Amino acid sequence: MAGTGNEQARKTAEGLAYQTGFGNEHSSEAVPGALPVGRNSPQRAPLGLYAEQLSGSAFTEPRAHNLRSWLYRIRPSAAHPPFVRAERHALRSAPFTDCTPDPNRLRWNPLPEPTGPTDFLDGLWTLGGNGDATQRTGMAVHLYYANTSMERRVFGNADGELLIVPERGGLLLRTELGLLHAAPGEVALIPRGVRFRVELLDAASDGQSPTARGYVCENYGRPFQLPDLGPIGANGLANARDFRAPVAAYEDVEGPVEVVNKFCGHLWTATYDHSPLDVVAWHGNHVPYVYDLRRFNVIGSISYDHPDPSIFTVLTSPSDTPGLAGVDFVAFAPRWLVGEDTFRPPYFHRNVMTEYMGLIEGAYDAKAEGFVPGGGSLHNMMSAHGPDRETFDRASTADLRPQKIDDGLAFMFETRWPLTLTEQARDAGHLQRGYDDVWQGLQRHFRL
Ligand SMILES: [Fe+2]
Repeated sequence: MAGTGNEQARKTAEGLAYQTGFGNEHSSEAVPGALPVGRNSPQRAPLGLYAEQLSGSAFTEPRAHNLRSWLYRIRPSAAHPPFVRAERHALRSAPFTDCTPDPNRLRWNPLPEPTGPTDFLDGLWTLGGNGDATQRTGMAVHLYYANTSMERRVFGNADGELLIVPERGGLLLRTELGLLHAAPGEVALIPRGVRFRVELLDAASDGQSPTARGYVCENYGRPFQLPDLGPIGANGLANARDFRAPVAAYEDVEGPVEVVNKFCGHLWTATYDHSPLDVVAWHGNHVPYVYDLRRFNVIGSISYDHPDPSIFTVLTSPSDTPGLAGVDFVAFAPRWLVGEDTFRPPYFHRNVMTEYMGLIEGAYDAKAEGFVPGGGSLHNMMSAHGPDRETFDRASTADLRPQKIDDGLAFMFETRWPLTLTEQARDAGHLQRGYDDVWQGLQRHFRL
């Protein structure tokens, strides 16, 4: 009866209420009176709940970077049996040392459909990454392809936060702090340590099981934040008010629930005698959220040239070097191009940063073909890239009237270090052969 379950999940997802804002001190209670007033840890918490703090930053980090939430739950998280190592399927973590870092430009088709029942967790497939999960630095690029909901199963990641970018199929995310609905065109963030379950929503029209696929940026480094706006001013890019955090929602479930914990690159599992999604009330700023990329306020040139793609940064994970991100999440949302005497597609360039790009829908204005929704491209540190020949020829001679780019939604995970592939990404059958060909035939135009 998977269809019935998905229908229920869809109704739940469509009726969700949210709190709004980014970095707020949110608070929510699923039962009136469940949230203590005036203190975090009273001698006896209301309704017989246990008080528990979940820290996303060191206690002593500056207030502007300090992340923590107080959870009021039916049982404390400490009440669990030992974890034992579990199968991690195609999920891998940094450090990535199996492959030699590859300077070539690479591009993949979408992941193949799973051959058997596969939920979000089992469907995670790691492309590569950098840094070291145990050092809380760097990032990993994962893709997922799922055809079943997680059932009596919960996942939590101690290694970093997860930015989920659905490309096909909506997701209902049941987290410790409440429920989120993330559809294609939206992104969801699960903070480090927050446990959650993923349910699929979209049933295929032919009555087959629903599928969901997309991308995940696992950020081991400092949590994503909104970029500073500098001379842009007080508004623009991703506006804080458009981020949605959940309201408290708990499940009071007795009986076996598998809790999978990703810790220093490996999966560990324990069978609880209750669901850990039992938080009745909470307050704090270490929270999951969802953001609709169509709300992004795109800023660009109204004279000539176009700004560097950093102008499209939705979220940034800063490093210890000012202006240098561990990883940026960048979206190429619908926008107008009006530059005069300007080559309007993304220019040719070589970049000290490493760029992984994915496509959520439609097409991307620098690639005429071959870059498809669900696929991805990797332009590693200093690799030369830019528009393909067909795009260059067209854009070089185009009539420069104002032009709306509204037929696609692409994104980029841009990271400070080279990205090393996993063996499965290097050897994948869906790795495109001959990606270099898109830049062949760029004609010599030089003449004296
Ligand atoms: Fe680039």
